[in-house]
Amino acid sequence: MNREVVVSGIRSTGYLHLGNYFGAIQNYVKMQDTHECYFFVADYHALTTHPDPKELKPNVFRVVAENIASGLDPEKVALYAQSDLIEIPELYLMLNMLAYKGELEKVPTFKDKVRMQPENVNAGLLTYPVLMAADILIHRAVKVPVGKDQEQHLEMARNFASRFNTRYGVDFFPEPQVFRFNQDTVKIMSLDGNGKMSKSENVSATIYLSDDDDTIRKKIMKAKTDQGPAEPNAAMPDYIQNLFLLLQLTATPEVTAQFTGAYNNCNIRYGDMKKQLAEDMVTFVRPIRERAAELQRDEDAIRKILKAGAEKARASSAATIAGARKLIGINYY
Ligand code: TRP
Repeated sequence: MNREVVVSGIRSTGYLHLGNYFGAIQNYVKMQDTHECYFFVADYHALTTHPDPKELKPNVFRVVAENIASGLDPEKVALYAQSDLIEIPELYLMLNMLAYKGELEKVPTFKDKVRMQPENVNAGLLTYPVLMAADILIHRAVKVPVGKDQEQHLEMARNFASRFNTRYGVDFFPEPQVFRFNQDTVKIMSLDGNGKMSKSENVSATIYLSDDDDTIRKKIMKAKTDQGPAEPNAAMPDYIQNLFLLLQLTATPEVTAQFTGAYNNCNIRYGDMKKQLAEDMVTFVRPIRERAAELQRDEDAIRKILKAGAEKARASSAATIAGARKLIGINYY
């Protein structure tokens, strides 16, 4: 059966949190039975910020372990490190010839980086969208499950694909589209009510998959609430809605219904609700955390998974590069 090809890159910096789990990983897990999936750790992308060489491997291995612990099955998908697929930098080089300095300089994420790290505006940062396009086009993917912040990058990948096709006169690369399961992907707000949960900011208001039981309890008990609704069936402020969303995602339907009823009758006690949520959250996160920790202790197992993933991915990336070389005219032998 011919399944649609899906590619997604996982950043290797920072710790995974509930927002990543419900917003992205859960969707990956659903897709692995219905699509031909290529999921990789974007370690080359991480080099744009010049990380400490000692940190690279533990970061990559941790992200792999956390994704597998969250349900990603390396038997079903190709799970690999970007730097293990040598065809990606080759396609990146080819696409760089079709990417223009002007359009790259206009990308909002590039402009943000320039503002944030003016001392390190390297060419890799400028061509970040080209590398991302190479990640996707190397498997001639049609679907890319990414968040809103990556849509512009995906649009650039479509532009590079169609430019290549026009230049060489064949429909070699499909134009990859954003993939969404539902209209809206689940968005988890940070527990202090300020923005989304984050890999690096708002640490005390973000629940990480690596948080221990007591840390989870403490964070939830500190979550922002208020005096409660003043009238029956009142609209919920977003930070309260967020707590109900978390309850819905981790507790039984009965528990959620009970607290929703209390809210609507104006007799909700947020302290009780948070205690309940804390226990349900602890029960939810614990097996993921423990499985991830166990995997991380077995480096050999992770190494094997990454190697097997790269081998699986190479079948399609090698075919793409062979085809692209031929179209470009690099076929001398
Ligand atoms: N840029 C993406 C992010 O910051 C990560 C990424 C790299 C990616 N290459 C990709 C996502 C290819 C999808 C497809 O989250």
